[in-house]
Amino acid sequence: MKRITFSLLFAIGICWGVYAQQKISAFEVDLKSKGASIAPDMWGLFFEDINFAADGGLYAEMIKNYSFEFPSPFMGWQRIQEQGAMGYHYTKPHLDESKNKKFLQMQRLNEEGVFGMSNAGFRGMAVKANANYRLTFMARIAKGENLSLKAQLAKGRNILADVNIEGLTRDWQEYEVMLTASETADQVNFKILLEGEGELDIDMISLFPEDTWKGRKRGLRKDIVQLLADMNPGFLRFPGGCIVEGFDLENRYQWKNTIGEMKDRGTMINRWNIEFAHRNAPDYFQSFGLGFFEYFQLAEDLGAEPLPILSCGLACQYNSGEIVPLDMLDEYVQDALDLIEFANGSVETAWGAKRAAMGHPEPFDLKYIGVGNENWGPQYIERADVFEKAIKSAYPEMIIVSTSGPSPDGHEFDYLWKELTARNAELIDEHYYKSPEWFLESARRYDNYDRNGPKVFAGEYAAHSTTEKDALKKNNWEAALSEAAFMTGLERNADIVRLASYAPLLAHVDGWQWAPDMIWFDNLGVYATPNYYVQKLFSTNPGTHTATITANGNTVAGEDGMYASATIDEKAKEIIFKIVNTNAEIRAFDIKFSGNVKGKNATWIELQSDQLDVAHSLKEPKKIAPEEKSVEIQKRVVKTELKPYSVNVFRVKL
Ligand code: AHR
Repeated sequence: MKRITFSLLFAIGICWGVYAQQKISAFEVDLKSKGASIAPDMWGLFFEDINFAADGGLYAEMIKNYSFEFPSPFMGWQRIQEQGAMGYHYTKPHLDESKNKKFLQMQRLNEEGVFGMSNAGFRGMAVKANANYRLTFMARIAKGENLSLKAQLAKGRNILADVNIEGLTRDWQEYEVMLTASETADQVNFKILLEGEGELDIDMISLFPEDTWKGRKRGLRKDIVQLLADMNPGFLRFPGGCIVEGFDLENRYQWKNTIGEMKDRGTMINRWNIEFAHRNAPDYFQSFGLGFFEYFQLAEDLGAEPLPILSCGLACQYNSGEIVPLDMLDEYVQDALDLIEFANGSVETAWGAKRAAMGHPEPFDLKYIGVGNENWGPQYIERADVFEKAIKSAYPEMIIVSTSGPSPDGHEFDYLWKELTARNAELIDEHYYKSPEWFLESARRYDNYDRNGPKVFAGEYAAHSTTEKDALKKNNWEAALSEAAFMTGLERNADIVRLASYAPLLAHVDGWQWAPDMIWFDNLGVYATPNYYVQKLFSTNPGTHTATITANGNTVAGEDGMYASATIDEKAKEIIFKIVNTNAEIRAFDIKFSGNVKGKNATWIELQSDQLDVAHSLKEPKKIAPEEKSVEIQKRVVKTELKPYSVNVFRVKL
């Protein structure tokens, strides 16, 4: 059925004359056609805390509402009072200045039964057999003697881990204990039980797997970061996305609230909590445990350039559209300047010292900074001008990313491009969430962009399958294949398109708001989509310069259902070319080289499925995965048969 849809598309293409339908029988790879340099960080990652990507996802905290700061302070928690136990649970205010405003008081009136609190995590909590889980919390005895705590992991009546905590004092102290799970289980509850009669104050009850990415305390999920690291990404854009803007100005992302000790990072509602009525997530908040320091650190771990995007003083124009008057923009501009100092300043500077205090005296070497996300209209341009002036006069080397709004065309897009071009903008962020057909038809989008104008950051894109009900916005092969075809166009135009990232990156299978997404996970596992494998093929086979691959003397972007791009890798001394076959049948080709190549074989990496509606799941995570093989080169020619619906990467030694 899907095959028919796809073939139909091309049939329609023929009628419209969109595709030059000269049959392709051979590709010619020009070995001497070294073109423009490709940005070494071209293929990167777009991270946004959407779909429980941060709390409940990448950030490995297992306790939801760990410090009782949600507006409903017991959200995520359940009172335990069983078998004759009597008592009360309250939240009370801290009296200091920290952003951690509340704590829990457990008041126990007798010694009978079981009394305490339980937490069910983020859409469940999962543990792995024999793994250690680090519990930390702050506590003090408010009243009574001989109070102690018991921490448990339990699945129903089955106790998977059990630890006693003695020695509680009358002063606030931090406690740390390890729980070891006896078996692998999901839908687990964490319980903290008070033993003895009296009152105990407790706060910041936090549980993390010991085995995080790089073993860091309060760290990131290792399995998810590993998938990111495997992509060898060139940059990491953070923290979004619309989350940058906020539904109103108060809800915008303020990086200064996300650094330092946890008690100084204020919990805030996540804008995706309420954005979509059909995907409401009333329990979606930001603890900022994954904050700007951690984003920079992650970028460094991945060998990726950090690319933060900041609010320009315009809240999401789809929501409140709140706007900061131009003469009141100072705080916003100062945030940008301070961020650059936080990332790059010496330890002698005020913000550099804060970075050093967090354990990173060396600078993070920030090169890019984004001003605004998906903003539009003259209001954006006016504000972007103010930022540009301030940033460039303090940091002339900083590359500023400007936005062209939420759509890849239309009146607002044209207006912003015109205005930004007139201002010699450096990098313009374009977003496209479009159908697979759009991606196929747009493979020449950048062929005619002005070579002397601003460069492009294809900052958010994903093909949204719309053709059948069960394929709606699925991460299926139809979407991924069309993205691959489009990406050959990005690569062919790498002189213009400097950076590109699929979006969004992460989604919890039981907590998502937006689909499709590149990587999906639950509390126990993770899987990569076919779209991930397409991205990875490009990001791990980039090349340093564009090169030329043609058929019938022309570049190939839809002709005969084929798409192609080539690059030269000067370091590896290789020519790399990518050919996408969107046809429903095998295509046999000669690939001819314009000169001598080294060796008798080419490496051939193939990503393929006969079915366009194939998608992955936690149970079936690798139906489509790259296969590497070798193909013979005879007299400067490779004879190949490209499978239907396939993405093919060839690497040949020069
Ligand atoms: O990627 C999801 C959302 O799509 C982003 O937050 C926003 O920038 C875009 O509209």
